[in-house]
Amino acid sequence: MVELLPSILSADFSHLADQVAAAERGGGTVIHVDVMDGHFVPNITLGPPVVKSLRKATRLPLDCHLMIENPDQFIPAFAEAGADWVSVHYEACRHLHRSLELIAQCGMKPAVVINPATRVELLLDILPMVHHVLVMSVNPGFGGQKFIEFSLGRIRRLAELRRELGLAFRIEVDGGVAHDTVARIVQAGADLLVAGNAVFGAGEPERDARALLASARAAANE
Ligand code: DX5
Ligand code: ZN
Repeated sequence: MVELLPSILSADFSHLADQVAAAERGGGTVIHVDVMDGHFVPNITLGPPVVKSLRKATRLPLDCHLMIENPDQFIPAFAEAGADWVSVHYEACRHLHRSLELIAQCGMKPAVVINPATRVELLLDILPMVHHVLVMSVNPGFGGQKFIEFSLGRIRRLAELRRELGLAFRIEVDGGVAHDTVARIVQAGADLLVAGNAVFGAGEPERDARALLASARAAANE
């Protein structure tokens, strides 16, 4: 089943609870939270205190995408703040297996993220332990970037590996998911669709989430 994950990166932070509620009315089922440290990516966003506030504002699962160095140092704090899913970057983890275990030990769903230039095949051995794989379809750091076309082949390859290995992890896509790209992304095999600009960019999150999800479901024949 295809799900829409509104990314609050493009929301109006002065009305965060209202923005999240509107995106939920539009059909968003998981809230995507972008955590950036100014080191792993050239931008700074938010940390556990904002996750703690969000936790009080919505019952939807909170999907925390950690674009940070040394994620192990912060994983317990995200658990305490109320995060449900946590993804760490392949490129930021010196001991990826340990980081994924730590996330699971803290009671959250573990996931791995790969940048556009990181090969899908590098994940082969850890695929059985992840709840989902997040395929970046832009270089992480900013909302509103253009979808990188070769991401489609990467999503297809991952879906193929999932079939070959008989696994059930989900495939999440992040970056440039919008009306003109969503059908091809779904047809390539993605089922968790992150969208920031396409949901919040025009200031009509309920309307725009609904329309995007409708296009995604149509492409998935749901
Ligand atoms: C980018 C973030 C994304 C971002 C996507 O580094 O990881 O989650 O919000 O933004 P859009 O949907 O605007 O491309
Ligand atoms: Zn993200």
